[in-house]
Amino acid sequence: MLRPRKRIFKKWRRNHNLSNVEVINPVVEKYWLQRYSLFSLYNEGIQMDEEGWYSVTPEEIAIRQAQRCAGRVVIDGFTGVGGNAIQFARMHCKVVAIDIDPRKIELALNNAKIYGVEGQIDFVVGDFLQQASSLKADVVFLSPPWGGPSYKNVKKFTLDLLKPKDGTVINLAVNAIVKLKQYDNMNCH
Ligand SMILES: C[S@@+](CC[C@H](N)C(=O)[O-])C[C@H]1O[C@@H](n2cnc3c(N)ncnc32)[C@H](O)[C@@H]1O
Repeated sequence: MLRPRKRIFKKWRRNHNLSNVEVINPVVEKYWLQRYSLFSLYNEGIQMDEEGWYSVTPEEIAIRQAQRCAGRVVIDGFTGVGGNAIQFARMHCKVVAIDIDPRKIELALNNAKIYGVEGQIDFVVGDFLQQASSLKADVVFLSPPWGGPSYKNVKKFTLDLLKPKDGTVINLAVNAIVKLKQYDNMNCH
Protein backbone atom coordinates (compact mmCIF):
# COMPACT_ATOMS: atom_id res chain seq x y z
CA MET A 1 0.00 0.00 0.00
CA LEU A 2 1.51 3.33 -1.07
CA ARG A 3 1.59 6.21 1.42
CA PRO A 4 -0.76 9.07 0.31
CA ARG A 5 2.09 11.41 -0.70
CA LYS A 6 3.62 8.68 -2.87
CA ARG A 7 0.24 7.95 -4.41
CA ILE A 8 -0.28 11.61 -5.29
CA PHE A 9 3.19 11.79 -6.77
CA LYS A 10 2.62 8.66 -8.87
CA LYS A 11 -0.62 10.12 -10.20
CA TRP A 12 1.06 13.46 -10.92
CA ARG A 13 3.85 11.65 -12.76
CA ARG A 14 1.33 9.68 -14.86
CA ASN A 15 -0.53 12.89 -15.72
CA HIS A 16 2.70 14.53 -16.80
CA ASN A 17 3.61 11.62 -19.00
CA LEU A 18 6.86 10.80 -17.21
CA SER A 19 8.47 7.42 -17.46
CA ASN A 20 9.13 5.28 -14.40
CA VAL A 21 12.73 5.06 -15.45
CA GLU A 22 13.33 8.73 -14.76
CA VAL A 23 12.07 8.93 -11.18
CA ILE A 24 12.71 5.95 -8.98
CA ASN A 25 14.83 7.03 -6.08
CA PRO A 26 12.98 8.54 -3.09
CA VAL A 27 16.11 10.48 -2.02
CA VAL A 28 16.10 12.20 -5.39
CA GLU A 29 12.37 12.85 -5.65
CA LYS A 30 12.36 16.20 -3.86
CA TYR A 31 15.23 17.51 -5.99
CA TRP A 32 13.78 16.13 -9.20
CA LEU A 33 10.68 18.25 -8.62
CA GLN A 34 13.00 21.28 -8.74
CA ARG A 35 14.84 20.06 -11.84
CA TYR A 36 14.25 23.15 -13.97
CA SER A 37 15.63 25.44 -11.29
CA LEU A 38 18.71 23.22 -11.13
CA PHE A 39 19.16 23.16 -14.93
CA SER A 40 16.80 25.18 -17.11
CA LEU A 41 17.77 22.94 -20.06
CA TYR A 42 16.97 19.79 -18.09
CA ASN A 43 14.78 18.37 -20.84
CA GLU A 44 17.57 18.60 -23.42
CA GLY A 45 19.35 15.59 -21.88
CA ILE A 46 20.89 16.70 -18.58
CA GLN A 47 22.25 13.74 -16.62
CA MET A 48 22.69 13.40 -12.87
CA ASP A 49 23.61 10.80 -10.29
CA GLU A 50 22.18 10.67 -6.77
CA GLU A 51 24.83 12.89 -5.18
CA GLY A 52 24.56 15.25 -8.14
CA TRP A 53 20.85 15.77 -7.49
CA TYR A 54 21.29 17.01 -3.95
CA SER A 55 24.62 18.75 -4.53
CA VAL A 56 24.24 20.77 -7.70
CA THR A 57 24.09 24.55 -7.33
CA PRO A 58 20.72 25.84 -8.60
CA GLU A 59 21.17 27.62 -11.92
CA GLU A 60 20.15 31.12 -10.80
CA ILE A 61 22.65 31.01 -7.94
CA ALA A 62 25.39 29.63 -10.21
CA ILE A 63 24.71 32.44 -12.69
CA ARG A 64 25.09 35.09 -9.97
CA GLN A 65 28.33 33.49 -8.76
CA ALA A 66 29.65 33.35 -12.32
CA GLN A 67 28.75 36.98 -13.05
CA ARG A 68 31.27 38.00 -10.40
CA CYS A 69 34.05 36.14 -12.24
CA ALA A 70 33.25 36.99 -15.87
CA GLY A 71 36.16 36.52 -18.27
CA ARG A 72 38.55 35.13 -15.65
CA VAL A 73 40.44 31.86 -15.42
CA VAL A 74 38.50 29.82 -12.84
CA ILE A 75 39.36 26.58 -11.08
CA ASP A 76 36.24 24.73 -9.96
CA GLY A 77 37.81 22.35 -7.43
CA PHE A 78 34.67 20.30 -6.76
CA THR A 79 32.86 20.26 -10.10
CA GLY A 80 30.14 17.66 -9.48
CA VAL A 81 27.72 17.46 -12.40
CA GLY A 82 28.82 20.88 -13.62
CA GLY A 83 26.23 23.32 -12.26
CA ASN A 84 28.84 26.00 -11.54
CA ALA A 85 31.44 25.14 -14.20
CA ILE A 86 28.82 25.54 -16.95
CA GLN A 87 27.76 28.99 -15.78
CA PHE A 88 31.39 30.15 -15.44
CA ALA A 89 31.95 29.05 -19.03
CA ARG A 90 28.81 30.88 -20.16
CA MET A 91 30.30 34.04 -18.59
CA HIS A 92 33.32 33.65 -20.89
CA CYS A 93 35.57 32.19 -18.23
CA LYS A 94 38.23 29.60 -19.00
CA VAL A 95 37.41 26.84 -16.53
CA VAL A 96 39.46 24.01 -15.05
CA ALA A 97 36.87 21.60 -13.68
CA ILE A 98 38.17 19.02 -11.20
CA ASP A 99 36.32 16.18 -9.51
CA ILE A 100 37.63 13.11 -7.73
CA ASP A 101 34.79 10.96 -9.12
CA PRO A 102 35.24 9.99 -12.81
CA ARG A 103 31.48 9.52 -13.23
CA LYS A 104 30.87 13.13 -12.15
CA ILE A 105 33.28 14.35 -14.80
CA GLU A 106 31.44 12.29 -17.45
CA LEU A 107 28.14 13.80 -16.34
CA ALA A 108 29.57 17.33 -16.21
CA LEU A 109 30.94 16.93 -19.74
CA ASN A 110 27.57 15.71 -20.99
CA ASN A 111 25.82 18.64 -19.29
CA ALA A 112 28.34 21.19 -20.59
CA LYS A 113 27.66 19.93 -24.13
CA ILE A 114 23.96 20.63 -23.63
CA TYR A 115 24.81 24.25 -22.85
CA GLY A 116 27.32 24.35 -25.71
CA VAL A 117 30.26 25.33 -23.48
CA GLU A 118 32.34 22.14 -23.33
CA GLY A 119 35.10 23.81 -25.36
CA GLN A 120 35.78 26.34 -22.59
CA ILE A 121 36.21 23.76 -19.86
CA ASP A 122 39.18 21.48 -19.15
CA PHE A 123 37.78 18.47 -17.31
CA VAL A 124 40.13 16.79 -14.85
CA VAL A 125 39.56 13.65 -12.78
CA GLY A 126 41.59 14.15 -9.62
CA ASP A 127 41.83 15.11 -5.97
CA PHE A 128 41.68 18.88 -5.67
CA LEU A 129 43.35 18.76 -2.26
CA GLN A 130 46.40 17.09 -3.82
CA GLN A 131 46.49 19.40 -6.81
CA ALA A 132 45.66 22.72 -5.14
CA SER A 133 49.22 23.89 -4.49
CA SER A 134 50.28 23.42 -8.12
CA LEU A 135 47.36 25.27 -9.75
CA LYS A 136 47.21 28.87 -10.89
CA ALA A 137 44.11 30.86 -11.75
CA ASP A 138 42.37 34.17 -11.17
CA VAL A 139 39.61 32.54 -9.15
CA VAL A 140 39.40 29.32 -7.14
CA PHE A 141 35.79 28.31 -6.61
CA LEU A 142 35.10 25.66 -3.95
CA SER A 143 31.79 23.92 -3.51
CA PRO A 144 32.82 20.93 -1.39
CA PRO A 145 30.57 17.97 -0.58
CA TRP A 146 28.16 18.85 2.19
CA GLY A 147 27.07 15.40 3.33
CA GLY A 148 23.66 15.32 1.76
CA PRO A 149 20.24 14.67 3.20
CA SER A 150 21.69 12.38 5.90
CA TYR A 151 22.72 15.54 7.82
CA LYS A 152 19.05 15.84 8.77
CA ASN A 153 19.51 12.93 11.17
CA VAL A 154 22.55 14.36 12.96
CA LYS A 155 21.58 15.80 16.36
CA LYS A 156 24.75 17.78 16.93
CA PHE A 157 26.70 19.13 13.99
CA THR A 158 30.41 19.42 14.63
CA LEU A 159 33.09 20.66 12.21
CA ASP A 160 34.72 17.23 12.01
CA LEU A 161 31.59 16.05 10.18
CA LEU A 162 32.43 18.34 7.30
CA LYS A 163 33.63 16.70 4.12
CA PRO A 164 36.13 16.12 2.67
CA LYS A 165 38.51 15.21 5.47
CA ASP A 166 37.23 17.03 8.54
CA GLY A 167 36.86 20.42 6.95
CA THR A 168 40.26 20.55 5.22
CA VAL A 169 38.70 22.78 2.60
CA ILE A 170 37.87 25.38 5.21
CA ASN A 171 41.51 25.37 6.33
CA LEU A 172 42.64 25.77 2.71
CA ALA A 173 40.28 28.68 2.20
CA VAL A 174 41.29 30.41 5.46
CA ASN A 175 45.00 30.06 4.57
CA ALA A 176 44.37 31.46 1.11
CA ILE A 177 42.47 34.44 2.56
CA VAL A 178 45.25 35.12 5.08
CA LYS A 179 47.86 34.99 2.29
CA LEU A 180 45.80 37.35 0.12
CA LYS A 181 45.43 39.73 3.03
CA GLN A 182 49.20 39.72 3.61
CA TYR A 183 49.76 40.37 -0.09
CA ASP A 184 47.23 43.19 -0.01
CA ASN A 185 48.93 44.79 3.00
CA MET A 186 52.30 44.56 1.26
CA ASN A 187 50.82 46.38 -1.73
CA CYS A 188 49.33 49.08 0.44
CA HIS A 189 52.44 50.00 2.41
C1 LIG B 1 28.76 19.79 -3.62
S1 LIG B 1 29.36 18.78 -4.98
C2 LIG B 1 29.73 20.03 -6.19
C3 LIG B 1 28.51 20.51 -6.92
C4 LIG B 1 28.81 21.47 -8.04
N1 LIG B 1 29.12 22.80 -7.55
C5 LIG B 1 27.64 21.55 -9.02
O1 LIG B 1 26.98 22.59 -9.08
O2 LIG B 1 27.37 20.54 -9.70
C6 LIG B 1 30.93 18.26 -4.42
C7 LIG B 1 31.74 17.39 -5.37
O3 LIG B 1 33.05 17.26 -4.82
C8 LIG B 1 33.59 16.04 -5.26
N2 LIG B 1 34.76 15.77 -4.39
C9 LIG B 1 34.79 15.25 -3.14
N3 LIG B 1 36.06 15.22 -2.69
C10 LIG B 1 36.84 15.74 -3.67
C11 LIG B 1 38.23 16.00 -3.77
N4 LIG B 1 39.07 15.70 -2.78
N5 LIG B 1 38.70 16.55 -4.93
C12 LIG B 1 37.86 16.86 -5.94
N6 LIG B 1 36.52 16.62 -5.89
C13 LIG B 1 36.02 16.08 -4.76
C14 LIG B 1 32.43 15.07 -5.16
O4 LIG B 1 32.64 13.96 -6.02
C15 LIG B 1 31.26 15.97 -5.56
O5 LIG B 1 30.95 15.77 -6.91
